[in-house]
Formats: sequence, structure tokens, C-alpha cells
Amino acid sequence: MKSVVVTGANRGIGLELVKQLLDSGFRVYATHRSEMGGLANLNNQNLSIHQMDVRDQKAIDELSNSIDGKIDLLINNAGVADGRWQSISEIDMQHALDVIEINSIAPVLVTQKLLNKMSDDSTIVMMSSLMGSISDCMSGRSYAYRASKTALNMFSIAMKNELESQGISILIMHPGWVETDMGGPHAPLSVEESVQGIIQRIEEQTLEMTGRYVQFDGTPIEW
Ligand SMILES: NC(=O)c1ccc[n+]([C@@H]2O[C@H](COP(=O)([O-])OP(=O)(O)OC[C@H]3O[C@@H](n4cnc5c(N)ncnc54)[C@H](OP(=O)(O)O)[C@@H]3O)[C@@H](O)[C@H]2O)c1
Repeated sequence: MKSVVVTGANRGIGLELVKQLLDSGFRVYATHRSEMGGLANLNNQNLSIHQMDVRDQKAIDELSNSIDGKIDLLINNAGVADGRWQSISEIDMQHALDVIEINSIAPVLVTQKLLNKMSDDSTIVMMSSLMGSISDCMSGRSYAYRASKTALNMFSIAMKNELESQGISILIMHPGWVETDMGGPHAPLSVEESVQGIIQRIEEQTLEMTGRYVQFDGTPIEW
């Protein structure tokens, strides 16, 4: 049975990933920061639930110690938005640092600490965004969120160059504009449809594809 770790799994895209991966027969380690949210309603013997803020090194170590055997798939999904600041004058620097810590640095820390459980054929998904694309940036707003996802992309590419020789591949995903708390009620894509696409991208991923930056339906994204 293949094992997957999903961060930020109590709601939104993370929760739907847990549901669909359980249905596909995965052993799922689902993490949540505080509230268990929708995870509390799932009753499946292949599901383990762990409280873990992605910035908390001790909690990541505890998760790692509780996992028997290999991690086939790590989905660094947890993330925060930034308040969509319209102007540089509105940027709250402490909040910007928090966004960058959670969206860019924490996924690298989680990966670093779980890497000893990964080997040949393991895949790491970095939940990025189209908003991390420099060439797609047609407006100024969401400064910190955009920058955090661009930084995540670069961390991921630097990492893929190192991990390729260990047989570990990296998939940088844009889930689409999805109807979640973050995406809002006007998002055109349901969480179910987005996650179906994400899982298809994971299933087709090979080491030769490592470092690709694609949206949920497989369309490549310009950096
Ligand atoms: N929805 C979209 O349209 C869209 C588009 C592009 C990219 N994305 C990306 O997709 C991912 C999931 O987004 P979503 O739409 O599902 O967002 P969401 O509904 O707001 O859920 C975000 C999840 O991340 C968790 N999280 C935030 N900070 C955390 C921390 N420090 N430690 C652990 N967990 C933390 C949240 O936990 P709490 O419940 O405790 O806050 C929640 O489970 C994010 O990385 C986001 O940037 C989303």
C-alpha cells in the first residue's frame, strides 16, 4: 500500500485530497494546524491524523517518527493568502514575513525532515499557484502571496536538481482557481474537479518530468 502525507488537510483542497487518495487505496497521513475540521468526519482505517503546524520542527519530527516505512508521496499543500494588498503602501511587513514563512520556507523544512523516508519513485508535490508566475503577473496586488509562491517555485527547482539522483521527483502544481475559503465563492472550479486533476497529474508523473510547473489539467505554466 502506498503512503502519502498531506499538509493542511482539515479543509479545502487538502481535505479533498485526503478523501480521494483514501478512495484510491493510499495510506494517508493527514496533518492539520489546529482544528480537525472535516477530518473529524472521516472514518477510515488507512487514515492517521496528526496535529502539525508546518512551521513546527518538533511536530514534523513527531510525524516522521510515527511513519512506518516509505513515504511514496508528500503533498505540501498548507498555505495562506495575504489580504490582497492593492498597493505597496498597504503591505504589513510582519504579515508578509509570516506568509513567506508558511508558503515558501515551511514546505522546504517539511520536505527536509521527511526526506529520509523517501526514496526511488517518491514524488513531492509543491502546491504553488499561477500567482507565483512572474510572466503572468499583470497586476500588483497580493504582493506577499505572489512572492511566496515564486520563492516556493525556486526552492522546488533547486531541490529537484539535488533529488533527481535519488530518484525523487518534484511536481509544482497550480490547482486552478478553486472554490475554497481561500479561492472564495466566485471561483469557477469545484474542489472535487481540481483534486481529480491533481491526482491525474501525480499518477502520470515520472522522474523525467521532475520540476514541471503545471495547472490541475496538465497545462504547463510559464515561470
Ligand atoms: N483555492 C485556490 O483558488 C488556490 C489557487 C492557487 C493555489 N492554491 C494553493 O492551494 C493550497 C490549498 O489552498 P486552499 O484553497 O485549500 O486554502 P484554504 O481552504 O484556505 O486551506 C488552507 C489550509 O492550509 C492550512 N494552513 C495554513 N497555515 C498553516 C500552518 N502554518 N500550518 C499548517 N497548516 C496551515 C489551513 O489550516 P487552518 O484551517 O488551521 O487555517 C488549511 O487547512 C494553498 O497552498 C494555496 O496557496 C489555492
